[in-house]
Amino acid sequence: MTNEQKHELTSRRTFAIISHPDAGKTTLTEKLLLLGGTIRSAGTVKAKKSGKYATSDWMEIEKQRGISVTSSVMQFFYRDHHVNIVDTPGHQDFSEDTYRTLTAVDSAVMVIDGTKGIEAQTLKLFKVCRMRGIPILTFINKLDREGREPLELLQEIEEVLGIESYPVTWPIGMGKRFQGTYDRFEKKIEVYRGNEESVFIDFDGENVTEELTKYIDPAVIPSLIDELMLIDEAGNDFSIEKVKNGTLTPVFFGSAIANFGVQSFFNSFLNLTSPPQSRMSSNGEIPIDYPHFSGFVFKIQANMNPAHRDRIAFVRVCSGKFERGMTVTLPRTGRKIKLGQSQQFLASDRETVEEAYPGDIIGLYDSGTYQIGDTIIGGGAMFQFEALPKFPPELFRKVRAKNAMKHKHFDKGMTQLVQEGAVQLYRTPFFGDYILGAVGELQFQVFEYRMKAEYGVDLEFTSMQHNSARWIAKDDVKHIKTDSRAMLVEDLDGNPVLLFENDFVLRTFTDKYPDVKLSTIFEG
Ligand code: G4P
Repeated sequence: MTNEQKHELTSRRTFAIISHPDAGKTTLTEKLLLLGGTIRSAGTVKAKKSGKYATSDWMEIEKQRGISVTSSVMQFFYRDHHVNIVDTPGHQDFSEDTYRTLTAVDSAVMVIDGTKGIEAQTLKLFKVCRMRGIPILTFINKLDREGREPLELLQEIEEVLGIESYPVTWPIGMGKRFQGTYDRFEKKIEVYRGNEESVFIDFDGENVTEELTKYIDPAVIPSLIDELMLIDEAGNDFSIEKVKNGTLTPVFFGSAIANFGVQSFFNSFLNLTSPPQSRMSSNGEIPIDYPHFSGFVFKIQANMNPAHRDRIAFVRVCSGKFERGMTVTLPRTGRKIKLGQSQQFLASDRETVEEAYPGDIIGLYDSGTYQIGDTIIGGGAMFQFEALPKFPPELFRKVRAKNAMKHKHFDKGMTQLVQEGAVQLYRTPFFGDYILGAVGELQFQVFEYRMKAEYGVDLEFTSMQHNSARWIAKDDVKHIKTDSRAMLVEDLDGNPVLLFENDFVLRTFTDKYPDVKLSTIFEG
């Protein structure tokens, strides 16, 4: 590895912000971009969300609904670091894309609304991050509002998420009484002054100084000292190893909208997270100093520009250096590909990227070459990065073409979109009916839109009550009795899968057949 490569690598931080809708992810992202000077004024990210931003070449469905269906990538430079924020859709109707995006990042920031605590979508996304063992930092937002008690929020993080917490900053009051936060590492108070810039004052956590009483209401100082003592004595010890393996989350308090606590949070973030690490592959670990370029496709986005019907494969760079025009191998097919057209993303602008390093996300024009999970490699070696995890669908729909004459287009679209990973597909054994599985309602809508736009096929959906899929061994099929409530279908590769109508049916089945092993994913 050259010195240049080493420098580029160690300065990279690639992360996602996970949260429940309305917790403040967009606002925080905006403030982070401002820190990096990427956007001139706050509001750019927000405006995009409300549909005012000129995103004319994004999918029509995004515009119609004023939401970001796709996960875009924002890059900025801050304090000698190249920062990549990989955005995840901020809507409740999220999809497998959201989950897969988390396989392309090295850490995550969990934004929690301090007035609400942990919400459903945060929990789902958290579980995926946890599975990957990546650092997760927590930003408790909206301290300018009356919210829940900080200790109660920490307890909830520990109990609901099953992760240790360590408050790096500690709030002094909240809502109208919010006065600032105390940084336990820096031993400084950031004083909240509404629209005015924060002031930082020293405080050792015990000794009251004149400066302290000048900025902080003396009436609250004794309880602040008590609380700091309490979290010191009763709270978890800080451990950077635990942060790095994702078993302890450093917690920060602030107000994204007031841009309070954001900068100190992000400075700590850069220190507490690691640059890109080595990844597992079919040839064992590919060390981060592996000299040749390698990366994997974690997302394919079609129709970025409907006029050209183009598709973009999003690649996470894992090793070496990407250079535009280089030739890589796609081990799945053995094909050699010249990477002539590549893009990088800055908020929602795109520009051609000439070079990229581990941690970066690049977009490659795709004319049907790539599939989700594909590895691409420079330098002649042949290996594949570990397969992306499959996420068990929770929603199912029967689907067919409205016009039976279109069945060829229907089959073609179905095969291509399913291969791309847009939805999961099952067939019923005798009639061969198509059943789609998804983790979010939006996946069906995007699928329907794309079948129409790209293959000219109108779809007809029949809703299904089923809410879970379980794989079973082929040998077990003959020992069980199935019906419409525990329905036997096959996945794309002909493996038997049971779709259960609800948790009760699933429980009854497991009670009846205790020896039949049910798996949420196909285990081979
Ligand atoms: P999201 O991307 O996680 O969905 O959340 P977003 O940033 O869009 O924020 C959701 C709402 O919460 C917005 O209000 C936003 O202004 C508000 N918000 C974000 N951070 C803070 C904060 O620190 N304090 C307070 N009090 N509010 C915050 P909205 O009414 O939905 O939109 P807008 O009309 O304010 O733009």
